[in-house]
Order: sequence, then structure tokens, then C-alpha cells
Amino acid sequence: MVKKNFPLFIIIMFTITFPNYSFSHTDNPRHKAMMTLGKTMKQISTINKSGGSFEPDDLNKLNEIFEISKSFNVLFANDDSGEEESRASPMIWTNKSKFKNFSNDFEASIAKLINAVNSKSNEKVSNAIAQVGANCGKCHRVFRLPKKN
Ligand code: HEC
Repeated sequence: MVKKNFPLFIIIMFTITFPNYSFSHTDNPRHKAMMTLGKTMKQISTINKSGGSFEPDDLNKLNEIFEISKSFNVLFANDDSGEEESRASPMIWTNKSKFKNFSNDFEASIAKLINAVNSKSNEKVSNAIAQVGANCGKCHRVFRLPKKN
């Protein structure tokens, strides 16, 4: 039975398992990176608003998002804008220099945020957070497509 239907069996197994690891959105490194950006920025902002002081672990997290900010060329290496799960605009790949400028501005704003946190000035941190947020928004407005459905 199994022998006779072996090709069919293979096809079924493939369609069951393949989408799970190949197209899983939550395993996508870009998705993970963006979620880490959001989570860390929220944490840093909460600490700053409460007037609390930053711990070494917070700086580790900031260094992690600094690394992410430097890796946009890798996270957006391939044009997957046609894929169902992707909200990346094809313009990322047709207007590469603009995307690179936005990524560089973003990276610079994270570097400033790290300096602000090290300076222990609540006000500087607030300003730096606002600048980072503006850079997230600027890039999303131009290069992130609306939800597909
Ligand atoms: C240089 C451009 C750029 C910058 C800067 C940027 N993003 Fe994004 N972000 C994108 C693009 C493009 C997408 C859509 C990617 C996709 O759907 O594959 C995205 C998607 C996201 C998502 C949805 C992720 C998902 O897969 O569901 C979150 C959350 C996010 N960004 C948070 C942030 C935050 C927070 C910041 C700033 C701290 C930020 N991003 C900075 C370009 C950027």
C-alpha cells in the first residue's frame, strides 16, 4: 500500500512539513530582528520615563540592537517583496541608496542613544529615543507596505 503510493506519500509529507520550517514567519531572521528592536526600545523608554537607572544588561540589549542596525543589508539581502508574508516594498531593492541612507541614519541614532544612556542624562536619553523612533517611522512609511490582507 505504502509502496504503491510512495510518490503520493512523499508529496503529502512534503506539503505538511515544508511550509512549517521554510516559510514560517516567526522564524524569519528579519522578523526576529524587528521584534527585538521594538521590544528593546520599549524597555529603554519605560526605564527612562520612570527615572530609573540603566543596568549593564540594558546596555547589552542596546548593543544587540546596534548590531541589528548594522545588519540591514543582510536582513534585506534578497528581494522577497512578492511573498505573501512579506511587507517589504520592492523599492528597497530598486532604490537601494535611499534604503541604505535610512539604515545608516538609524544606525547613527542608536549609537547616539547608547552615548546618551552612558551619559546618564534623562533628557538626552529622551531626545535620543525620539530620534530613533522617528527613524523607525521614516523607513516604515517609505519601505514597508500596508498589510496585504
Ligand atoms: C531602514 C528601514 C527600517 C528601519 C530603520 C526600521 N524598520 Fe522595521 N521594518 C522595515 C521593513 C521594510 C519592514 C517589513 C519587513 C517584512 O515584512 O518583511 C519592517 C517591519 C517591522 C516590524 C514587523 C515585523 C514582522 O515581521 O512582523 C516591526 C515590529 C518593526 N519593523 C519594528 C521596527 C522598530 C521598532 C524600528 C526602530 C527601532 C524599526 N523597525 C526600524 C524597515 C525598517
